[in-house]
Amino acid sequence: MERSTELELIKRVLAHVAHKSTDMAAASSSLPVSRYYDQDRFAAEQKLIFGQLPRAVAHVSQIPDAGDFITLEAGEQPVLIVRTAEGGVNAFLNVCRHRGARLEWDAGGCGRKRFTCKYHGWVYDPDGALVGIPGSEGFPELNRDIHGLTRLPVEIRHGFVWIHPDPKGDLDVASYLGSLDQELSGFDLGRHIQFSPRRFPRKINWKLVIDTFLEGYHVRTAHQDTIAPMFYDNIGLSDQFGLHQRIVFPKITFGEMIDQPEENRSLRQHANVLYILFPNTMILVQPDHMGVFHGYADGIDGVVVDASVLLPEAPATDKARNYWQKNVDILFSALDEDFELAEFVQAGVKTAANEHLTFGRMEKGLRWFHENVDRIVDGQDN
Ligand code: FES
Ligand SMILES: [Fe+2]
Repeated sequence: MERSTELELIKRVLAHVAHKSTDMAAASSSLPVSRYYDQDRFAAEQKLIFGQLPRAVAHVSQIPDAGDFITLEAGEQPVLIVRTAEGGVNAFLNVCRHRGARLEWDAGGCGRKRFTCKYHGWVYDPDGALVGIPGSEGFPELNRDIHGLTRLPVEIRHGFVWIHPDPKGDLDVASYLGSLDQELSGFDLGRHIQFSPRRFPRKINWKLVIDTFLEGYHVRTAHQDTIAPMFYDNIGLSDQFGLHQRIVFPKITFGEMIDQPEENRSLRQHANVLYILFPNTMILVQPDHMGVFHGYADGIDGVVVDASVLLPEAPATDKARNYWQKNVDILFSALDEDFELAEFVQAGVKTAANEHLTFGRMEKGLRWFHENVDRIVDGQDN
């Protein structure tokens, strides 16, 4: 983040702290509850959002060495990410080219030289080449050169592995991020190390995961026993950058900066800064580490959230590990609180109680997010 941007954000927060105000939309808004359970809409989201837009799927520290790999369900596509011998990264559809079985079943592993299909034993190398066919005399006409694994466009940027879900798609992460690209480069995300990953399967529509992050209005009540005492009640900044957003949640120490000269002011020291990278990645910048969350739809009313923390360096001692683990535990407790409530929302939207949900003026991040989803699904971006 540019220093001028940081100082500007600090000024905006200090003004809100002085007036006990927060960023607001001009008016409240609403969303039909069917957005969370309509099958046609969900199919369109999968096709037009998860089938067509770039997204971050992993952190580089998950696959540091040649042959290290992870598999994931990115949208409805099974994906295999492999570190190459040259230090690059390959992304493939995790689907065998013989008769379409899932190729790799492990969630991840190290130093793999071959990927062997469980079904009939076809073998691929980390560059996706088909290098082995048991009973190959049965395939006399097969051209192995065009039966390697299907590649997805892949790029490493800001420490994350980004893919394009369409093998023919154009992947240009810098232009996808727009002005946030420059801002994210200041956090040195590529030098961080992933710590304490946890998977949260929950019975909620994927959009409810994003909704829980998009406002600070709920913190005082929903997180009263965990993180609420650390933050101002309902004071924050929300800014939109095309499809993406940045939210600033000031901590109760923020007001101390009012008497400090500009050169001593630090946004990160006194606030959490959250980046919502459309459609399903969130990076929560905290004073000395980050939280990272990716939410993948598992059917219309299911989601799998991959959550982890990025540390500036791997903890070398038990003391350091305990320190970070404590931070993770607090973060994940708050997530549990959010997701438990979201599960009630998912159940609630299917009742006759509401035709629409209401977004208050301070919940404008939700309005922006759903407007973007609707714009893409309704075809105005195509
Ligand atoms: S489907 Fe993979 S070897 Fe047959
Ligand atoms: Fe929350």
